[in-house]
Amino acid sequence: MRVQNCFNFHDFRRLAKRRLPRPIFDYIDGAADDETTYRRNTSSFETCDLVPNVLRGVRDIDMSVTVMGQKLAMPVYCSPTALQRLFHHQGERAVAAAAARYGTMFGVSSLGTVSLEEARRISSGPQVYQFYFHKDRGLNREMMARAKAAGVEVMMLTVDSITGGNRERDKRTGFAIPFHLTLAGMAQFAMKPAWAFDYITHESFKLPQLDNHVDMGGGALSISRYFTEMLDPALAWDDVAEMVQAWNGQFCLKGVMSVEDAKRAVEIGCTGIVLSNHGGRQLDGSRAAFDQLAEIVDAVGDRIDVIMDGGVQRGTHVLKALALGAKAVGVGRYYLFPLAAAGQAGVERALELMKIEIERDMRLMGCTSIDQLSRNNLRFR
Ligand code: LAC
Repeated sequence: MRVQNCFNFHDFRRLAKRRLPRPIFDYIDGAADDETTYRRNTSSFETCDLVPNVLRGVRDIDMSVTVMGQKLAMPVYCSPTALQRLFHHQGERAVAAAAARYGTMFGVSSLGTVSLEEARRISSGPQVYQFYFHKDRGLNREMMARAKAAGVEVMMLTVDSITGGNRERDKRTGFAIPFHLTLAGMAQFAMKPAWAFDYITHESFKLPQLDNHVDMGGGALSISRYFTEMLDPALAWDDVAEMVQAWNGQFCLKGVMSVEDAKRAVEIGCTGIVLSNHGGRQLDGSRAAFDQLAEIVDAVGDRIDVIMDGGVQRGTHVLKALALGAKAVGVGRYYLFPLAAAGQAGVERALELMKIEIERDMRLMGCTSIDQLSRNNLRFR
């Protein structure tokens, strides 16, 4: 199957599964414990129905939004995700270029495999830097300074990963970074020659955000151990307040879920919060962001930009979140499977499909701009 024959998330997921060695596919696809939150993320959108309006004159559609001071041509952005070079040799380069082409925002992770500076040069669109707060305060300071110097628009501190989630698929496969072709895994890699050729014939795996500070020579590190051993479990609101001051620009917290925390984020001067359960990869049983959205928007939506991610696979999912009051919606696996399947062409195809869906769905909803969507367009079952 070629990307042109992919029409939705499921098509890309199938293609990625065919191309990737099992441990890598499972790293992207997997989640914590019983993966109930992962499943709930998408099914939560089915708890509510769209109520369209008709005969509104919907020839010209404008789906642009402004979030944390950034104008996006479409209301969906590419959330920062880790280790992209493992999925396809173009890695973050592909995502930055595709996001630029569609006029939207993209994120580079602390665990990114392309430097935030290089990503900045590829895309003129708004760039998020996803920050993990390490025990090593020197590393934290350096990462902030580098992001500022590179001209990153939005600092995004992930706050739901203070320790590693229980990802049993990764435990079974032994998935770890840096990525080695272990003897045990050889058989699986031999079965995926296209991926193996791509991996071996391109530059070696790197983590340029952490280069100077994290010694990867000491052996393979699982993502869970990275969270647990490298990140600072003492991180608290006062530290974040200091970071917000030091950054002196657009700053958001990713992984806020409670009203209490959302209010706290406002108090310390954050300009955005991302309701997220990390794609179900951290605390299984955690509420879906969409389920929690109305409560948060009602509490702080007039003082801070509320964003959400988790389970978004369709244009209608995006419209439901925007109608409830989200300012924009993040996607992760939605562009990672296409990246794995076909690099930049895959990510572009996924964003194109999303754009076409949103445009069609807005017409069918009877609205020509995002601000025309409201809770009048939603009914919960
Ligand atoms: C993950 C991290 C690294 O979910 O964001 O794997």
